Formats: sequence, structure tokens, C-alpha cells
Amino acid sequence: MDSDSRLALIREFDDRRGLEPPLLSASVHRQIESIVLERLESDRLAAKGITPTRSAILVGPPGVGKTLSARWIAARLRKPLWVLDLTAVMSSLLGKTGNNLRAALDHAKANSAVLLLDEIDAIAKRRSDESDIGELKRLVTVILQEVDQWPATGLLLAATNHPELVDPALWRRFEAVVQFGKSEPAAVSAAVRRFLGEDLATFEPWVDALSSTLADASLSDVQRSITALRRRHALNEADAQLLVGQLLGDGMASLSKAQRLALAIDLAKSGQHTHQDVSKLTGVARDTIRRHAGPSPRRGRGLK
Ligand SMILES: Nc1ncnc2c1ncn2[C@@H]1O[C@H](COP(=O)(O)OP(=O)(O)OP(=O)(O)O)[C@@H](O)[C@H]1O
Ligand SMILES: [Mg+2]
Repeated sequence: MDSDSRLALIREFDDRRGLEPPLLSASVHRQIESIVLERLESDRLAAKGITPTRSAILVGPPGVGKTLSARWIAARLRKPLWVLDLTAVMSSLLGKTGNNLRAALDHAKANSAVLLLDEIDAIAKRRSDESDIGELKRLVTVILQEVDQWPATGLLLAATNHPELVDPALWRRFEAVVQFGKSEPAAVSAAVRRFLGEDLATFEPWVDALSSTLADASLSDVQRSITALRRRHALNEADAQLLVGQLLGDGMASLSKAQRLALAIDLAKSGQHTHQDVSKLTGVARDTIRRHAGPSPRRGRGLK
């Protein structure tokens, strides 16, 4: 706790009772798993005089699961995740920031914690404020030393979506760099299903359509859209088809003509929607749909 601002410097996520695994590309999944496995099998490494990865930086666009993956790693290691709030560290009075940071880091080391320096670029961003330069240099120095000396009993993670702002000297010191990309189509579709939760059965006929409309969204945005949909459905604001139609309508503007046609064909071929419904949703003419997908089923089903 910073004594002047009374801000908590460390937040805790305790997911030891269970956390759904993050939906990740195969390569990110592999890297995250090896960080975990090296820890779980550290005895076998030690027998050969090797230490497990002590530090890793997670890089990628917003909302793709960097913080969630850090929670997942900690949960797999049966530890809580401690997150050092760098904004809180820096909001304390000039001249004390380094001390606050050191105290928080010492605390984490003493407890063999999994510590996440979330949004580590926050330090860099403050550099534009000239008066802080000396202080920020000290802060970076403290972190540099800590990354170098981090004990193998703990695990130091950092996350950023602005890798270009991270001090190269700091960057170099992390033993592993995990690069998160934009979510893959399979992950978006799995996310749509996961976030629909108990309403999956109701919305099942629309999962593919929702997934293609949300294809370019981050999983965090997918969660927001699907949760909004479920709220409105729960409050009986409209039937499922109409609500989905509105959501698709909002996303439709961002689809190209070819994407809309592909979506229309998929929907029609699923045999679950009439061509009339598909046409209304996608703006693709019924004739065109019939040409690609054959005759319309007699009526939509599975929707109330
Ligand atoms: N890969 C994923 N798998 C499952 N859920 C995800 C994933 N990515 C994001 N989400 C959902 O979005 C929420 C926010 O994700 P998270 O905080 O991990 O993103 P982030 O990459 O850390 O973003 P930021 O750079 O903005 O901090 C998660 O709690 C989860 O519900
Ligand atoms: Mg995050």
C-alpha cells in the first residue's frame, strides 16, 4: 500500500478453484504450456542444472487474453496471481516511486509469487512528461535489476500492447516473449459458444453467423456483444432471431460484399433459416441466395 495515496499497489486474482482455459492459437498455447510445465517439472530440470523460465513478457493487441493467460498460468501453478499496478506505483509522490516499487517486488519475491507487471508500457508513456524523466529512469532501472535477479522460485510476467514503447534494455531481459495475435476464427467461434453459456441451445442456429460477424473483434469484445445479447434476451426485449438480427445488422456494415454473400450462403445452407430471413439480415437478394444454396427450407426453425 502506498502510504500517501492509500492505493493498493498489488491486486490479487485467486483462480485456484478453477478457471476456464483461455482460447489461444496453437503456438501461443504451446508457449504458455511450456512455461507451466517447466515449473511443474522443475525437479527434472534442476537435476541437469537448468532453471525454469523465470520471466516472460506477453505482447499483443487489447482484449486477446494476455491478463487472462497470466491468471491461467498462476492457476495451473496453484498460486494466486499478483498484479502490480504500475499506475498506482507511479501516482505516488516523486522520489518515493522507486521505494514503493522495490517494496512491492520484495514482497512478491519473498512469497514466491507469480507477479504480473501489467501494462508495463505505462512507465514509458509517462516519459512524455519531462519533469518525471529522472524518476522514470530510476524506475526502469529498478525493474531491470529485478528482472535479472528474479528467483527461480517465483515467476515474473509482464504484459503490454505497446511493445514499441518498452525500453529495449528491459525488453531484452525477459527470458520468453509470447506474441499474441488477433484471435483466429476457431477461437472466435469457440468464444461465442462459451459466452452464450446456458443460452447456447437457443442461439445455436446463429452461432456461425455471430462468429463471422464478430470475426474481427477481440475476444473481449466478443464477450461484451454476446453478454449484451443475452441480457436483452433474458429481459424478453425481443425474440432471439430479432436480437441476433440487430447484432448482425450492426456488424454487417463492416463486412465486404463478398463476406456478406459468404455469410448468406452459409446461413441458407444450414437449412435452419428461410431465404427471406437470410436476405433480410444480409441484404443479399433471394435470387442470389437460391442460385448458390438451392431452394429455401419451408420455414425457419429452432427459434422462438
Ligand atoms: N483468449 C481468450 N480466451 C477466452 N476469453 C478471453 C480471451 N481473451 C479475452 N477474453 C475475455 O476478455 C476478457 C479480457 O481479456 P484480457 O483482460 O485477458 O485481455 P488483455 O489481452 O489483457 O487486454 P488489454 O491489453 O486491454 O489488457 C477476459 O477476461 C475474457 O473474458
Ligand atoms: Mg490486460
